[in-house]
Amino acid sequence: MRFHVKVFWLCLVVLLSISPLLAQSSPLAATPPMGWNSWNHFAGKVTDADVRAAADAIVASGMRDAGYIYVNIDDTWEGQRDAQGNIQSNSKFPDMKALADYVHSKGLKLGIYSSPGPKTCAGYEGSYGHEQQDANTYAKWDIDYLKYDLCSYTRIMKQESNGDHEKAWMMMQQVYEKMHQALLNTHRPIVFSLCQYGWDAVWSWGPKVGGNLWRTTGDISDNYRSMTMIGFSQAGLSKYAAPGHWNDPDMLEVGNGRMSPDEYRTHMSLWAMLAAPLLAGNDLSKMDDTTKSILMNKEVIAVDQDPRGVQGDRLHATGPFEVWMKPLSGGAKAVALFNRSGYAYPITVHFSDIDFRGSVHVHDLWAHKDLGTLQNSYTAVVPSHGVVMLRLSE
Ligand code: GLA
Repeated sequence: MRFHVKVFWLCLVVLLSISPLLAQSSPLAATPPMGWNSWNHFAGKVTDADVRAAADAIVASGMRDAGYIYVNIDDTWEGQRDAQGNIQSNSKFPDMKALADYVHSKGLKLGIYSSPGPKTCAGYEGSYGHEQQDANTYAKWDIDYLKYDLCSYTRIMKQESNGDHEKAWMMMQQVYEKMHQALLNTHRPIVFSLCQYGWDAVWSWGPKVGGNLWRTTGDISDNYRSMTMIGFSQAGLSKYAAPGHWNDPDMLEVGNGRMSPDEYRTHMSLWAMLAAPLLAGNDLSKMDDTTKSILMNKEVIAVDQDPRGVQGDRLHATGPFEVWMKPLSGGAKAVALFNRSGYAYPITVHFSDIDFRGSVHVHDLWAHKDLGTLQNSYTAVVPSHGVVMLRLSE
């Protein structure tokens, strides 16, 4: 063989052998993951057909084009292990690889769920003692995202730590690192979502164990009290988020029916200000226009997905009236005026509070309206439990 032909083949072989590594070096979750998760609406009843319907609806509604890409199956898909210990899906999910192929054919990605414990939170088979085997199975099925939920591993932590809290917390980190390594070993880029309810300040060690996102709280419910208790308690966590590593205040309840449109707009705005993962949790095949307008407000989504990847934080709160700010790329700033009280009330953002000194261009992200170029401050009357969300630039 001529010399340059040999060199060509050599280069090709080297390139092919390192291509999985190259794929992995492109950052996973460079912006907060967006998609849908089965739990909030379907819980233990979710089936293959529901997931396919969700994928269909994400495309038909325009959500995929607005950025919602992950279709995530939560707990209750798991079946028994076969004689070799390989996890199998149960009768609700007859063929996981075929489901992945279907979801991928729509330009979407498929997520799955497991636990480091022997059992998941709903009592199904967990990954304890089968971490690498399960990661390999997920890769074989072409899974793109894993939510790994502590659940019954707490029992093992208690048993093996004999009341030594430090040891228990260390075990928790190790078991997440174990799955992180197992996922890396598959050479498939799989987003790793930690779910252990924010224990032991997970935001301080989540990136170390490969977490692309980590739940910061217990489970959300579809009511204003639960949503605001979780959302507003995120104040102070902004410094722990960065591209590839996000605080996760749990999935969205928008469209599930137990909050008013103003309350759902608060939910969506607050999650966007927090650079939170936007995982819709409603039945996508039955969305009314209000739900669609909230989940698909592209200007609000752009705040969440801003490439600079800085999480917003509370500027100040006066009783139930809160002003939050999120720095955006290009020097603009998103500002949200939240009214947590039972009556409409005027809330003001003073431009000096966000280090803007000159004239400021103000754009309303829910009214989709330019409010002009203003000096000093802007005041809006914010409805009860509502929000006014703005994009400010000098
Ligand atoms: C835990 C998680 C939820 C959900 C359920 C499933 O409660 O926090 O998000 O995954 O388990 O059993």
